[in-house]
Amino acid sequence: MTAVVVSGAGRVFDGGSGAGTVALADVDLTVGEGELVSLIGPSGCGKSTLLRLIADLDAPTSGSVTVFGKPADRAREDQDYGIAFQQAGLLPWRSVRANVELPLQLRGRAGRAERAARAAELLALVGLADFADHRPDQLSGGMQQRVAIARALARSPRLLLMDEPFGALDEMTRERLQDELLRIRASTGAAVVFVTHSIAEAVYLSDRVVVMSPRPGRVVATLDVPLGGPADRAARGIELREDPAYFERVSAVREALHSGDTAPDRVPS
Ligand SMILES: Nc1ncnc2c1ncn2[C@@H]1O[C@H](COP(=O)(O)OP(=O)(O)OP(=O)(O)O)[C@@H](O)[C@H]1O
Ligand SMILES: [Mg+2]
Repeated sequence: MTAVVVSGAGRVFDGGSGAGTVALADVDLTVGEGELVSLIGPSGCGKSTLLRLIADLDAPTSGSVTVFGKPADRAREDQDYGIAFQQAGLLPWRSVRANVELPLQLRGRAGRAERAARAAELLALVGLADFADHRPDQLSGGMQQRVAIARALARSPRLLLMDEPFGALDEMTRERLQDELLRIRASTGAAVVFVTHSIAEAVYLSDRVVVMSPRPGRVVATLDVPLGGPADRAARGIELREDPAYFERVSAVREALHSGDTAPDRVPS
């Protein structure tokens, strides 16, 4: 069983007049169960668009997307995945705790006490135990993003879709949450599609790194990262970040990025 199969997917955005923007052209992507695949590439190459197709927040203009063998819309109805995107997307009138509890409440299976316990556990995990009663606008951008990550994990999904989830965090918090993500994968076996601008982060977390290039957005290279499973990596931590085998993969991804057309997307004139 695979977690995600994207097959020949294209997405063209209408520009009003003229040809429109080809955000994605003929993209194939397969993510196995329990696998972490990173999407990396310059701004505007279609990473968020691809993730939105998988999450059924947008539909491809050609090709197809399946999640756990179902069409993307069925998988969304069945709530088969958790989402943490570029913008935290928290509900401003709900407390931090109530935001994290929301997916459990919508699912309706967990009782009040169980929800509260789960929210407390997740907020401790992302280092926000003392902020459960705050409103999102009382937190920094990075703290809001950590709330969104806790919310994405609430139902222990088999698939996590993450769009630059650590982008607004300081380097130390970022490395701590990277290790947490490895541990979460090790304990839940969740598959992850992870968008990042950081080559180092992509290599540290991923089983495979998919390199994309813009105009039109397409996959230019896929690199394996044979540095061990998530439990192993989390246990090695800093030692892994200093391993020559890790640096070798970082260089390989960098070279693949630079050999693609990596100029940032231009605003059409
Ligand atoms: N709703 C939309 N309407 C029109 N064009 C869009 C829309 N969403 C995305 N695009 C275009 O599709 C292309 C890909 O955008 P996308 O957001 O997927 O890029 P990205 O790789 O996530 O970039 P970044 O790294 O900056 O987040 C861009 O050229 C963008 O202008
Ligand atoms: Mg994006």
